[in-house]
Amino acid sequence: MTKPVIRWAGSKRKLLPKLAQLSPKNYNRYIEPFCGSACLFLELEPAKAILSDSNSALINSYQKLKSDPSKVLSFVLRWPRTKDFYYTLRATIPSESKDDVFGAARFLYLNRLCFNGVYRENKSGYFNVPYAESRSGQFPTEKEFLEFSKELQKAEIVCSDFGESLDRSEKDDFVYLDPPYSYSEQRHRGEYGYNVFTCDDEERLIKKVSEASERGVKILISYNKAQRLRKKLVKWHLSYAPVRRSVAGFSKHRKVVREFQLRNYV
Ligand SMILES: C[S@@+](CC[C@H](N)C(=O)[O-])C[C@H]1O[C@@H](n2cnc3c(N)ncnc32)[C@H](O)[C@@H]1O
Repeated sequence: MTKPVIRWAGSKRKLLPKLAQLSPKNYNRYIEPFCGSACLFLELEPAKAILSDSNSALINSYQKLKSDPSKVLSFVLRWPRTKDFYYTLRATIPSESKDDVFGAARFLYLNRLCFNGVYRENKSGYFNVPYAESRSGQFPTEKEFLEFSKELQKAEIVCSDFGESLDRSEKDDFVYLDPPYSYSEQRHRGEYGYNVFTCDDEERLIKKVSEASERGVKILISYNKAQRLRKKLVKWHLSYAPVRRSVAGFSKHRKVVREFQLRNYV
């Protein structure tokens, strides 16, 4: 299997065998509206896919790795992997340009060397996660980046809210949804910033998946709060798996939680 090139807090890598087993055998397009590291897409190797996420820096890096991998790698693989260089690069201001190859390389480099693959921004909207003093793992090789780029050729890659991608799903498509965990505290500092996924988002998700399900779309959802979804998605099939999870990316707060999977097909 082609490996993800990013480290992503909340990645489903450890649950891949279970998720692959729960995925339908036949479908038309694979759609992943909270794609993050896109590891289930890499595991299933669908012929056609839509990968989307609301994180524009992440999506820009995938779009550039798809369209111009050698240019992106000419930066990423050349930069020294040191703490000093990490902070020098982090201090640069990313461009607003839609065709930002340097920004794509900057994102990939900082992601690989940052603390626990967390993505967090300061009030001005700039990435501010510290350097990982340990446990950042092996930096991907050129071959691994190029394999990943090859897989991306099968996907349309879009920066959008999950609702837009769900609205595009049609009969016999397979949609895998892995939203950020919802927390009960008012202001929770999650892995992707403050209150990224709110109760309102959860309500929207329920409405959008219900509509897509009516259209004949096959849907699999991973989530931490099954009860709220189940009340509305009656008749959907429920399963669960224990996962070791770090809270807000901090390994000292790591604990085992139950993660649920809900699906509307057998
Ligand atoms: C739990 S992670 C997905 C992890 C992914 N399944 C993996 O294995 O790497 C949730 C993702 O949702 C994205 N996200 C948060 N709010 C979103 C929204 N409203 N629409 C689309 N994506 C969103 C975050 O940027 C993050 O990448």
